[in-house]
Amino acid sequence: MPWPTRHDDPVFGLLDAEQERQNTGLQLIASENFASPAVMAATGSVFTNKYSEGYPGKRYYGGNVVADDVEDLARQRICELFGADHANVQPHSGANANMAVFQALLEPGDTVLGLSLDHGGHLTHGSPVNASGLLYDFVGYKLTSGDERIDLESLAAQAREHRPKLIIAGATAYPRIIDAEPYRKIADEVGALLMFDAAHIAGLIAGGVHPNPMPFCDIMTFTTHKTLRGPRGGCILSTEALAKAIDKAIFPGQQGGPQVHSIAAKAVAFGEAQTDEFKAYAAQIVANAAALAEALAGQGFRLVSGGTDNHLLLCDLRTFDADLTGKEAQIVLDEAGITLNRNTIPDDPRSPFVTSGIRIGTPAVTTQGMGPDEMVEIARLIAETLRNRTDAAAVAGIRAEVAALCGRFTPYN
Ligand SMILES: Cc1ncc(COP(=O)(O)O)c(C=O)c1O
Repeated sequence: MPWPTRHDDPVFGLLDAEQERQNTGLQLIASENFASPAVMAATGSVFTNKYSEGYPGKRYYGGNVVADDVEDLARQRICELFGADHANVQPHSGANANMAVFQALLEPGDTVLGLSLDHGGHLTHGSPVNASGLLYDFVGYKLTSGDERIDLESLAAQAREHRPKLIIAGATAYPRIIDAEPYRKIADEVGALLMFDAAHIAGLIAGGVHPNPMPFCDIMTFTTHKTLRGPRGGCILSTEALAKAIDKAIFPGQQGGPQVHSIAAKAVAFGEAQTDEFKAYAAQIVANAAALAEALAGQGFRLVSGGTDNHLLLCDLRTFDADLTGKEAQIVLDEAGITLNRNTIPDDPRSPFVTSGIRIGTPAVTTQGMGPDEMVEIARLIAETLRNRTDAAAVAGIRAEVAALCGRFTPYN
Protein backbone atom coordinates (compact mmCIF):
# COMPACT_ATOMS: atom_id res chain seq x y z
CA MET A 1 0.00 0.00 0.00
CA PRO A 2 1.47 3.44 -0.85
CA TRP A 3 2.04 5.42 2.38
CA PRO A 4 2.49 9.20 2.73
CA THR A 5 6.13 10.25 2.37
CA ARG A 6 6.15 11.60 5.94
CA HIS A 7 4.98 8.85 8.24
CA ASP A 8 5.68 7.12 11.52
CA ASP A 9 7.88 4.15 10.64
CA PRO A 10 7.12 1.89 13.61
CA VAL A 11 3.36 2.24 13.17
CA PHE A 12 3.35 2.03 9.38
CA GLY A 13 5.70 -0.94 9.59
CA LEU A 14 3.03 -2.66 11.65
CA LEU A 15 0.37 -1.74 9.08
CA ASP A 16 2.51 -3.43 6.42
CA ALA A 17 2.98 -6.46 8.66
CA GLU A 18 -0.77 -6.76 9.23
CA GLN A 19 -1.48 -6.47 5.52
CA GLU A 20 1.05 -9.25 4.90
CA ARG A 21 -0.62 -11.42 7.57
CA GLN A 22 -4.07 -10.85 6.09
CA ASN A 23 -2.89 -11.51 2.53
CA THR A 24 -0.87 -14.66 3.12
CA GLY A 25 -3.17 -16.51 5.53
CA LEU A 26 -6.73 -17.82 5.39
CA GLN A 27 -9.08 -15.45 7.22
CA LEU A 28 -11.87 -17.71 8.45
CA ILE A 29 -13.18 -15.70 11.41
CA ALA A 30 -16.94 -15.63 10.75
CA SER A 31 -17.30 -12.00 11.88
CA GLU A 32 -14.53 -10.65 9.64
CA ASN A 33 -14.31 -9.62 6.02
CA PHE A 34 -12.23 -7.57 3.59
CA ALA A 35 -13.87 -4.16 3.13
CA SER A 36 -13.79 -2.89 -0.45
CA PRO A 37 -11.14 -0.33 -1.48
CA ALA A 38 -13.90 2.31 -1.74
CA VAL A 39 -15.02 1.57 1.84
CA MET A 40 -11.39 1.77 3.00
CA ALA A 41 -10.89 5.10 1.20
CA ALA A 42 -14.01 6.63 2.78
CA THR A 43 -12.93 5.35 6.21
CA GLY A 44 -9.59 7.10 5.84
CA SER A 45 -11.15 10.31 4.51
CA VAL A 46 -11.36 13.97 5.56
CA PHE A 47 -14.55 13.28 7.52
CA THR A 48 -12.33 11.99 10.31
CA ASN A 49 -11.67 15.68 11.02
CA LYS A 50 -15.30 16.66 11.60
CA TYR A 51 -17.39 16.95 14.76
CA SER A 52 -21.10 16.40 14.12
CA GLU A 53 -22.93 15.86 17.42
CA GLY A 54 -26.65 15.60 16.74
CA TYR A 55 -28.44 14.54 13.57
CA PRO A 56 -28.79 16.01 10.04
CA GLY A 57 -30.40 19.45 10.29
CA LYS A 58 -30.05 19.42 14.11
CA ARG A 59 -26.31 19.60 14.86
CA TYR A 60 -24.61 21.24 17.80
CA TYR A 61 -21.64 22.59 15.75
CA GLY A 62 -21.33 24.47 12.49
CA GLY A 63 -19.85 23.24 9.23
CA ASN A 64 -22.06 20.18 8.91
CA VAL A 65 -23.69 20.82 5.52
CA VAL A 66 -21.73 18.03 3.85
CA ALA A 67 -21.83 15.71 6.87
CA ASP A 68 -25.62 16.08 6.85
CA ASP A 69 -25.75 14.97 3.22
CA VAL A 70 -23.57 11.93 3.79
CA GLU A 71 -25.53 10.80 6.85
CA ASP A 72 -28.82 11.30 4.99
CA LEU A 73 -27.50 9.25 2.08
CA ALA A 74 -26.45 6.41 4.39
CA ARG A 75 -29.84 6.45 6.16
CA GLN A 76 -31.77 6.53 2.90
CA ARG A 77 -29.79 3.66 1.33
CA ILE A 78 -30.10 1.33 4.32
CA CYS A 79 -33.84 2.04 4.74
CA GLU A 80 -34.34 1.14 1.06
CA LEU A 81 -32.28 -2.02 1.42
CA PHE A 82 -34.23 -3.43 4.38
CA GLY A 83 -37.59 -1.69 3.90
CA ALA A 84 -37.28 0.16 7.22
CA ASP A 85 -39.04 3.37 8.30
CA HIS A 86 -36.06 4.77 10.18
CA ALA A 87 -32.31 4.23 10.45
CA ASN A 88 -29.71 5.39 12.93
CA VAL A 89 -26.29 4.95 11.29
CA GLN A 90 -24.25 6.44 14.14
CA PRO A 91 -23.51 3.45 16.44
CA HIS A 92 -19.77 2.98 16.75
CA SER A 93 -20.26 -0.79 17.06
CA GLY A 94 -22.81 -3.57 17.30
CA ALA A 95 -22.52 -3.55 21.08
CA ASN A 96 -23.33 0.19 21.23
CA ALA A 97 -26.31 -0.33 18.96
CA ASN A 98 -27.71 -3.04 21.23
CA MET A 99 -27.14 -1.07 24.43
CA ALA A 100 -28.88 1.95 22.90
CA VAL A 101 -31.89 -0.17 22.02
CA PHE A 102 -32.08 -1.44 25.60
CA GLN A 103 -31.78 2.10 26.93
CA ALA A 104 -34.55 3.26 24.60
CA LEU A 105 -36.99 0.45 25.32
CA LEU A 106 -36.30 -0.81 28.84
CA GLU A 107 -35.98 0.27 32.46
CA PRO A 108 -33.18 -1.28 34.53
CA GLY A 109 -34.41 -4.61 35.90
CA ASP A 110 -36.82 -5.32 33.01
CA THR A 111 -36.98 -8.88 31.70
CA VAL A 112 -35.57 -9.76 28.28
CA LEU A 113 -35.49 -13.12 26.47
CA GLY A 114 -32.38 -13.81 24.40
CA LEU A 115 -30.55 -16.85 23.05
CA SER A 116 -28.30 -18.31 25.74
CA LEU A 117 -24.66 -17.44 25.27
CA ASP A 118 -23.61 -21.08 25.47
CA HIS A 119 -26.07 -21.86 22.65
CA GLY A 120 -24.88 -19.11 20.30
CA GLY A 121 -26.15 -15.83 21.79
CA HIS A 122 -23.95 -12.72 21.99
CA LEU A 123 -22.25 -11.10 24.97
CA THR A 124 -24.69 -8.17 24.72
CA HIS A 125 -27.64 -10.55 25.05
CA GLY A 126 -27.28 -10.72 28.81
CA SER A 127 -23.82 -11.98 29.71
CA PRO A 128 -23.35 -11.45 33.47
CA VAL A 129 -20.07 -9.61 32.77
CA ASN A 130 -21.63 -7.29 30.17
CA ALA A 131 -23.64 -4.14 30.94
CA SER A 132 -26.68 -5.84 29.36
CA GLY A 133 -26.62 -8.59 32.00
CA LEU A 134 -25.80 -6.20 34.81
CA LEU A 135 -28.65 -3.81 34.03
CA TYR A 136 -31.44 -6.07 32.81
CA ASP A 137 -32.94 -9.39 33.81
CA PHE A 138 -32.05 -11.67 30.89
CA VAL A 139 -33.57 -15.13 30.54
CA GLY A 140 -31.86 -17.43 28.03
CA TYR A 141 -33.66 -19.68 25.57
CA LYS A 142 -31.90 -22.67 24.03
CA LEU A 143 -31.46 -24.90 21.01
CA THR A 144 -33.23 -28.24 20.90
CA SER A 145 -31.02 -31.08 22.10
CA GLY A 146 -31.92 -33.22 19.06
CA ASP A 147 -31.41 -31.27 15.85
CA GLU A 148 -29.78 -28.24 17.54
CA ARG A 149 -32.23 -25.68 16.13
CA ILE A 150 -33.77 -22.77 18.04
CA ASP A 151 -36.36 -24.32 20.34
CA LEU A 152 -39.38 -22.17 19.55
CA GLU A 153 -41.75 -24.21 21.71
CA SER A 154 -39.65 -23.71 24.82
CA LEU A 155 -39.14 -20.07 23.87
CA ALA A 156 -42.93 -19.59 23.75
CA ALA A 157 -43.32 -21.32 27.13
CA GLN A 158 -40.59 -19.15 28.66
CA ALA A 159 -42.23 -16.02 27.21
CA ARG A 160 -45.57 -16.98 28.84
CA GLU A 161 -43.84 -17.65 32.15
CA HIS A 162 -41.51 -14.60 32.30
CA ARG A 163 -43.59 -12.01 30.35
CA PRO A 164 -40.49 -10.25 28.93
CA LYS A 165 -40.70 -6.64 27.78
CA LEU A 166 -38.34 -7.48 24.89
CA ILE A 167 -37.50 -10.65 22.96
CA ILE A 168 -34.22 -10.78 21.03
CA ALA A 169 -33.76 -12.95 17.95
CA GLY A 170 -30.31 -13.32 16.43
CA ALA A 171 -27.02 -14.96 17.30
CA THR A 172 -23.28 -14.83 17.09
CA ALA A 173 -22.70 -18.55 16.54
CA TYR A 174 -25.76 -20.24 15.02
CA PRO A 175 -25.42 -21.81 11.58
CA ARG A 176 -29.08 -21.85 10.50
CA ILE A 177 -31.65 -19.44 9.06
CA ILE A 178 -33.53 -17.52 11.75
CA ASP A 179 -37.12 -16.88 10.74
CA ALA A 180 -38.53 -13.80 12.50
CA GLU A 181 -42.19 -14.63 11.85
CA PRO A 182 -42.70 -17.18 14.68
CA TYR A 183 -40.89 -14.80 17.04
CA ARG A 184 -43.41 -12.09 16.14
CA LYS A 185 -46.32 -14.38 17.04
CA ILE A 186 -44.75 -15.18 20.42
CA ALA A 187 -43.95 -11.51 21.10
CA ASP A 188 -47.52 -10.48 20.23
CA GLU A 189 -49.00 -13.18 22.47
CA VAL A 190 -47.14 -11.86 25.52
CA GLY A 191 -47.12 -8.17 24.57
CA ALA A 192 -43.33 -7.97 24.09
CA LEU A 193 -41.32 -5.90 21.65
CA LEU A 194 -39.16 -7.83 19.17
CA MET A 195 -35.58 -6.97 18.28
CA PHE A 196 -33.60 -8.88 15.66
CA ASP A 197 -29.81 -8.70 16.05
CA ALA A 198 -28.61 -9.36 12.50
CA ALA A 199 -24.96 -8.49 13.26
CA HIS A 200 -23.65 -11.53 11.43
CA ILE A 201 -26.20 -12.01 8.67
CA ALA A 202 -27.00 -8.43 7.58
CA GLY A 203 -25.14 -9.02 4.30
CA LEU A 204 -27.01 -12.26 3.66
CA ILE A 205 -30.32 -10.46 4.19
CA ALA A 206 -29.24 -7.53 2.01
CA GLY A 207 -28.14 -9.98 -0.68
CA GLY A 208 -31.52 -11.73 -0.58
CA VAL A 209 -30.29 -15.16 0.55
CA HIS A 210 -31.83 -14.95 4.04
CA PRO A 211 -35.34 -13.69 4.85
CA ASN A 212 -35.66 -10.04 5.84
CA PRO A 213 -36.77 -9.85 9.50
CA MET A 214 -37.65 -6.12 9.32
CA PRO A 215 -41.35 -6.62 8.42
CA PHE A 216 -41.77 -8.71 11.59
CA CYS A 217 -39.75 -6.82 14.17
CA ASP A 218 -39.85 -3.48 15.94
CA ILE A 219 -36.10 -3.05 15.87
CA MET A 220 -33.25 -4.52 13.89
CA THR A 221 -29.61 -3.97 14.86
CA PHE A 222 -26.53 -5.08 12.98
CA THR A 223 -22.85 -4.53 12.49
CA THR A 224 -21.66 -3.14 9.19
CA HIS A 225 -18.30 -4.93 9.03
CA LYS A 226 -19.20 -8.62 8.82
CA THR A 227 -21.10 -10.13 5.87
CA LEU A 228 -22.07 -6.59 4.84
CA ARG A 229 -18.41 -5.74 4.02
CA GLY A 230 -18.56 -2.19 5.34
CA PRO A 231 -16.44 -0.30 7.87
CA ARG A 232 -16.41 -1.32 11.53
CA GLY A 233 -19.62 -0.02 13.07
CA GLY A 234 -23.24 -0.59 13.91
CA CYS A 235 -26.68 0.43 12.73
CA ILE A 236 -30.22 0.43 14.14
CA LEU A 237 -33.36 0.16 12.04
CA SER A 238 -36.75 0.77 13.60
CA THR A 239 -40.37 1.56 13.07
CA GLU A 240 -41.26 5.26 12.89
CA ALA A 241 -42.93 4.95 16.32
CA LEU A 242 -39.59 4.13 17.98
CA ALA A 243 -37.37 6.45 15.89
CA LYS A 244 -37.16 9.33 18.39
CA ALA A 245 -36.41 7.08 21.37
CA ILE A 246 -33.66 5.26 19.43
CA ASP A 247 -32.00 8.46 18.22
CA LYS A 248 -32.05 9.89 21.73
CA ALA A 249 -30.54 6.71 23.16
CA ILE A 250 -27.59 6.81 20.74
CA PHE A 251 -26.98 10.54 21.14
CA PRO A 252 -26.83 11.80 23.83
CA GLY A 253 -27.63 8.49 25.55
CA GLN A 254 -24.66 6.32 24.63
CA GLN A 255 -22.33 8.32 22.41
CA GLY A 256 -20.91 11.78 21.77
CA GLY A 257 -19.92 12.86 18.27
CA PRO A 258 -20.54 10.35 15.49
CA GLN A 259 -17.65 9.08 13.37
CA VAL A 260 -18.62 10.71 10.11
CA HIS A 261 -15.80 8.98 8.20
CA SER A 262 -17.38 5.66 9.22
CA ILE A 263 -20.82 6.91 8.28
CA ALA A 264 -19.48 7.86 4.82
CA ALA A 265 -17.98 4.38 4.51
CA LYS A 266 -21.28 2.83 5.64
CA ALA A 267 -23.01 4.79 2.86
CA VAL A 268 -20.52 3.31 0.37
CA ALA A 269 -21.07 -0.23 1.68
CA PHE A 270 -24.86 0.17 1.64
CA GLY A 271 -24.61 1.29 -2.00
CA GLU A 272 -22.45 -1.73 -2.84
CA ALA A 273 -24.97 -4.01 -1.09
CA GLN A 274 -27.74 -2.74 -3.40
CA THR A 275 -26.06 -4.21 -6.49
CA ASP A 276 -26.64 -7.51 -8.33
CA GLU A 277 -22.95 -8.25 -7.84
CA PHE A 278 -23.52 -8.22 -4.07
CA LYS A 279 -26.48 -10.59 -4.42
CA ALA A 280 -24.20 -13.06 -6.23
CA TYR A 281 -21.54 -12.53 -3.54
CA ALA A 282 -23.98 -13.27 -0.69
CA ALA A 283 -25.16 -16.45 -2.45
CA GLN A 284 -21.54 -17.53 -2.92
CA ILE A 285 -20.76 -17.03 0.80
CA VAL A 286 -23.55 -19.49 1.64
CA ALA A 287 -22.60 -21.97 -1.11
CA ASN A 288 -19.01 -21.90 0.11
CA ALA A 289 -20.04 -22.53 3.72
CA ALA A 290 -22.13 -25.52 2.60
CA ALA A 291 -19.19 -26.91 0.59
CA LEU A 292 -16.81 -26.40 3.50
CA ALA A 293 -19.25 -28.09 5.91
CA GLU A 294 -19.57 -31.12 3.66
CA ALA A 295 -15.80 -31.41 3.22
CA LEU A 296 -15.16 -31.07 6.97
CA ALA A 297 -17.77 -33.72 7.74
CA GLY A 298 -15.87 -35.94 5.28
CA GLN A 299 -12.73 -35.31 7.36
CA GLY A 300 -14.45 -36.63 10.51
CA PHE A 301 -15.73 -33.47 12.21
CA ARG A 302 -19.26 -33.30 13.62
CA LEU A 303 -21.09 -30.15 12.59
CA VAL A 304 -23.46 -28.54 15.09
CA SER A 305 -27.00 -28.90 13.64
CA GLY A 306 -25.58 -31.17 10.93
CA GLY A 307 -24.43 -28.36 8.61
CA THR A 308 -25.10 -24.75 7.77
CA ASP A 309 -27.34 -22.50 5.76
CA ASN A 310 -25.54 -19.26 6.46
CA HIS A 311 -21.94 -18.02 6.36
CA LEU A 312 -20.59 -20.01 9.32
CA LEU A 313 -20.24 -23.46 10.72
CA LEU A 314 -19.58 -24.78 14.16
CA CYS A 315 -17.29 -27.79 14.29
CA ASP A 316 -17.45 -30.18 17.20
CA LEU A 317 -13.85 -31.43 17.43
CA ARG A 318 -14.59 -34.43 19.65
CA THR A 319 -15.52 -36.80 16.81
CA PHE A 320 -12.25 -35.92 15.07
CA ASP A 321 -10.09 -36.28 18.18
CA ALA A 322 -11.56 -36.54 21.68
CA ASP A 323 -8.45 -34.97 23.26
CA LEU A 324 -8.31 -31.93 20.98
CA THR A 325 -9.68 -28.69 22.48
CA GLY A 326 -10.85 -25.63 20.59
CA LYS A 327 -8.08 -23.61 22.21
CA GLU A 328 -5.35 -25.95 21.02
CA ALA A 329 -6.87 -26.15 17.53
CA GLN A 330 -7.04 -22.35 17.22
CA ILE A 331 -3.39 -21.95 18.22
CA VAL A 332 -1.92 -24.58 15.90
CA LEU A 333 -4.15 -23.54 12.98
CA ASP A 334 -2.94 -19.95 13.41
CA GLU A 335 0.63 -21.24 13.15
CA ALA A 336 -0.37 -22.83 9.85
CA GLY A 337 -1.79 -19.49 8.65
CA ILE A 338 -5.41 -20.60 9.13
CA THR A 339 -7.09 -18.02 11.34
CA LEU A 340 -10.37 -18.85 13.07
CA ASN A 341 -11.71 -18.87 16.61
CA ARG A 342 -12.45 -21.48 19.23
CA ASN A 343 -16.10 -21.62 20.20
CA THR A 344 -18.25 -23.47 22.65
CA ILE A 345 -20.62 -26.02 21.19
CA PRO A 346 -24.09 -26.41 22.76
CA ASP A 347 -23.75 -27.87 26.28
CA ASP A 348 -19.98 -27.89 25.93
CA PRO A 349 -18.34 -29.90 28.73
CA ARG A 350 -15.29 -27.61 28.50
CA SER A 351 -15.09 -23.98 29.64
CA PRO A 352 -15.64 -21.05 27.21
CA PHE A 353 -11.89 -20.37 27.40
CA VAL A 354 -10.99 -23.92 26.31
CA THR A 355 -14.05 -25.20 24.37
CA SER A 356 -14.67 -28.32 22.30
CA GLY A 357 -15.38 -26.48 19.08
CA ILE A 358 -14.20 -24.05 16.46
CA ARG A 359 -16.25 -21.54 14.48
CA ILE A 360 -15.43 -21.11 10.80
CA GLY A 361 -16.77 -18.45 8.43
CA THR A 362 -16.59 -17.94 4.67
CA PRO A 363 -17.22 -14.18 4.11
CA ALA A 364 -13.56 -13.13 3.74
CA VAL A 365 -12.36 -16.02 1.57
CA THR A 366 -15.44 -15.51 -0.63
CA THR A 367 -14.55 -11.82 -1.02
CA GLN A 368 -11.13 -12.98 -2.23
CA GLY A 369 -12.83 -14.99 -4.98
CA MET A 370 -12.50 -18.50 -3.56
CA GLY A 371 -15.17 -21.08 -4.46
CA PRO A 372 -16.24 -24.64 -3.56
CA ASP A 373 -13.00 -26.25 -4.84
CA GLU A 374 -10.96 -24.10 -2.49
CA MET A 375 -13.33 -24.99 0.38
CA VAL A 376 -12.47 -28.68 -0.11
CA GLU A 377 -8.79 -27.71 -0.07
CA ILE A 378 -9.26 -25.64 3.12
CA ALA A 379 -11.00 -28.58 4.87
CA ARG A 380 -8.03 -30.78 3.99
CA LEU A 381 -5.53 -28.18 5.25
CA ILE A 382 -7.44 -27.83 8.54
CA ALA A 383 -7.64 -31.60 9.08
CA GLU A 384 -3.97 -32.16 8.18
CA THR A 385 -2.82 -29.41 10.51
CA LEU A 386 -4.81 -30.84 13.39
CA ARG A 387 -3.70 -34.43 12.70
CA ASN A 388 -0.04 -33.29 12.63
CA ARG A 389 -0.32 -30.71 15.40
CA THR A 390 2.74 -31.93 17.31
CA ASP A 391 4.93 -32.02 14.18
CA ALA A 392 6.40 -28.52 13.67
CA ALA A 393 7.85 -29.35 10.24
CA ALA A 394 4.50 -30.62 8.99
CA VAL A 395 2.74 -27.47 10.27
CA ALA A 396 5.38 -25.30 8.54
CA GLY A 397 4.76 -27.22 5.31
CA ILE A 398 1.04 -26.52 5.57
CA ARG A 399 1.80 -22.82 6.25
CA ALA A 400 3.60 -22.73 2.88
CA GLU A 401 0.65 -24.42 1.15
CA VAL A 402 -1.73 -21.87 2.72
CA ALA A 403 0.43 -18.98 1.51
CA ALA A 404 0.51 -20.44 -2.01
CA LEU A 405 -3.30 -20.80 -2.02
CA CYS A 406 -3.78 -17.23 -0.74
CA GLY A 407 -1.30 -15.94 -3.32
CA ARG A 408 -3.79 -16.95 -6.01
CA PHE A 409 -6.62 -14.98 -4.36
CA THR A 410 -5.23 -11.72 -2.98
CA PRO A 411 -8.02 -9.55 -1.51
CA TYR A 412 -6.89 -6.23 -2.99
CA ASN A 413 -5.68 -6.59 -6.57
C1 LIG B 1 -24.93 -11.04 17.34
C2 LIG B 1 -23.93 -9.96 17.64
N1 LIG B 1 -24.37 -8.81 18.18
C3 LIG B 1 -23.53 -7.80 18.48
C4 LIG B 1 -22.18 -7.91 18.20
C5 LIG B 1 -21.28 -6.78 18.64
O1 LIG B 1 -20.63 -6.15 17.61
P1 LIG B 1 -19.30 -5.27 17.91
O2 LIG B 1 -18.19 -6.22 18.07
O3 LIG B 1 -19.20 -4.38 16.71
O4 LIG B 1 -19.57 -4.50 19.16
C6 LIG B 1 -21.68 -9.05 17.59
C7 LIG B 1 -20.24 -9.17 17.29
O5 LIG B 1 -19.71 -10.17 16.99
C8 LIG B 1 -22.58 -10.12 17.32
O6 LIG B 1 -22.16 -11.26 16.79
